[in-house]
Amino acid sequence: MLALENVHTYYGKSHILHGVSIEVRPGEVVGLLGRNGVGKSTTLKTIMGLVRPAEGRVAFEGRGIGGMAPHRLAHLGIAYVPEDRRIFRLLTVLENLRTGLDRPGLTDRRREELLQKVYGSFPVLRERRDQAGGTLSGGEQQMLAIARAMMLEPKIILLDEPTEGLMPRMVSQIRDIIQVLHRDGVAILLVEQNVPLTLEASSRVYIMEKGVVRHHAPAAELRANQAVIHQYLGV
Ligand SMILES: Nc1ncnc2c1ncn2[C@@H]1O[C@H](COP(=O)(O)OP(=O)(O)OP(=O)(O)O)[C@@H](O)[C@H]1O
Ligand SMILES: [Mg+2]
Repeated sequence: MLALENVHTYYGKSHILHGVSIEVRPGEVVGLLGRNGVGKSTTLKTIMGLVRPAEGRVAFEGRGIGGMAPHRLAHLGIAYVPEDRRIFRLLTVLENLRTGLDRPGLTDRRREELLQKVYGSFPVLRERRDQAGGTLSGGEQQMLAIARAMMLEPKIILLDEPTEGLMPRMVSQIRDIIQVLHRDGVAILLVEQNVPLTLEASSRVYIMEKGVVRHHAPAAELRANQAVIHQYLGV
């Protein structure tokens, strides 16, 4: 469904991605692991067109999406939750969620259904719906960012280190949300440094090192043999 083929990305003269190829099939949860600075976020930014690949191709459902505007990608069914979450700090939780509902072709009834559905998955967002986004805890802001992405009814969500800096209780809530999305048939490209979570939540895992994919394997295989994880991630 989503495919990167031999993608090379630069920031100015720095060559960051050196021929990255990654594939995500419909409904699949795919992990992307790697140490700090190896190019995980750059991979997601390249998919979202925030940086232009100098070489290679990014395709979604068989068509090239290089250079497409973010709203067109959203329309195709690609949602992105960046590392810094980018919620609207001064808008309330409900207003933040509504930004994902403000699109043509949605009936009021469907909007309400979608809201109730995320409130069901994230009761804390219902409780705090009239509170400014910026007053939420880090974990709650992460939930809000994911919930807002869910409002777009995407086919795939790109999650950039959703559990970074979160307490264990919040991490397990993020794990639950990934399961809910998976059950709903939403594909996920999960960028993480949390190895246990990624091995548990994903069906396949790619391991990056210095801008290249060094290894990819079914998560079950990596769970059974963590030597590769040791080798590339040192954990
Ligand atoms: N806007 C930028 N301009 C120049 N270099 C950048 C820019 N953004 C990232 N880089 C560099 O590109 C490399 C890859 O960064 P990237 O953010 O993709 O890594 P990452 O794997 O997501 O790391 P982390 O786990 O710390 O989030 C790093 O060396 C980083 O310093
Ligand atoms: Mg990153």
